[in-house]
Amino acid sequence: RPLHFVILLGSLRKASVNAAIARALPELAPEGVSIELLGSIGEFPHYDADLQEQGFPPEVLAMAEKVRQADGVVIVTPEYNYSVPGVLKNAIDWLSRVSPPPFAGKPVAIQTASPGQIGGARAQYHLRQSLVFLDARVLNKPEIMVSAAYAKVDPGTLLLTDASTRDHLAGQLAALASQIRG
Ligand code: FNR
Repeated sequence: RPLHFVILLGSLRKASVNAAIARALPELAPEGVSIELLGSIGEFPHYDADLQEQGFPPEVLAMAEKVRQADGVVIVTPEYNYSVPGVLKNAIDWLSRVSPPPFAGKPVAIQTASPGQIGGARAQYHLRQSLVFLDARVLNKPEIMVSAAYAKVDPGTLLLTDASTRDHLAGQLAALASQIRG
């Protein structure tokens, strides 16, 4: 059956290597899978329960609905200080308060990229921990940790050019699709 995935991007930077990966995903999707990049989480206000009581921000509700309707979510994010960027945690915190909870039972794949040697691996386990509370169904393998990422993205076009990274990404998308299709 046809599947639709959405991408939650954890970097706001224009020349982001994680954004370069996110942009490559639609063309790396397996047969019958469409992939859409969600809007910027940079527009979300800082989470505040008082603000929530006045009504959820419309951009939060819109993203929650897209996540709820998606067959799977791919979270593509940098690692900041061995953890998840605050802006991504903020988005997860907002989305986690929407009812019905958009991530409950949702298949999720994680991808991180960094100019460093371990590709953001440490952030992945912090992210997984939050996703346990959200009751998401996080794909275990294959893991995607793109190391030395500045050498894998063309600085002029901002396209992901590294062939083996592209193969790995395609492999993870296929694994997510086959987990969902059973
Ligand atoms: C970083 N960076 C970084 N890299 C890493 O591998 N582990 C880390 O813990 C951190 N910590 C960190 C904190 C902060 C505040 C910044 C701004 C950066 C470097 C980071 O991987 C690099 O800036 C990437 O280019 C960020 O990803 P995007 O924006 O290019 O997708």
